[in-house]
Amino acid sequence: MNLSSEEAMAERIDLSKVEEVLKRHELDEGPLIPVLQEVQALFRYLPEEALALVGRRLNIPLSRIYGVVTFYAQFYLTPRGKHVIKSCQGTACHVRGGQGSLDALSRELKVKPGETTGDLNFTLETVACLGTCFLAPVVMVDDDYYGKLTPKRAVDALKKYRSGQGLKEAQE
Ligand code: FES
Repeated sequence: MNLSSEEAMAERIDLSKVEEVLKRHELDEGPLIPVLQEVQALFRYLPEEALALVGRRLNIPLSRIYGVVTFYAQFYLTPRGKHVIKSCQGTACHVRGGQGSLDALSRELKVKPGETTGDLNFTLETVACLGTCFLAPVVMVDDDYYGKLTPKRAVDALKKYRSGQGLKEAQE
């Protein structure tokens, strides 16, 4: 992650929200996974202090919780961006220039694959195939697909997701 400073953490960790999640699952059997899923939905990752609270309340050792969190790819222990960019580097995308789009995105956002921008707006990831090879090279931003990309079009696709940009465009 590429956080310039602690102040770059746009969100504070509000543990009262975690308490609400725990309360809803108090009577469930084996609530750890759904609790972790809901806590992650609150913060887009699993903050250490939230995991400690979950462990205390569910009476589960923190080591076991970390074992679960690190086992499942769906869980993240570091802050994630508001928007997640998945740059496909599968064979079809690779032979059609997917690396160029990835490099352009990486330069534009000043992060490497796997990292999050300092303003927590974007996380850049690579994936093996997005299932839309006929559109290669493909990049996905959140739930939106962008296909047949050039490096410039890949960077242009970010405009919609930049803070305030959508509002500015809507006003024009
Ligand atoms: S290889 Fe990129 S979408 Fe399939």
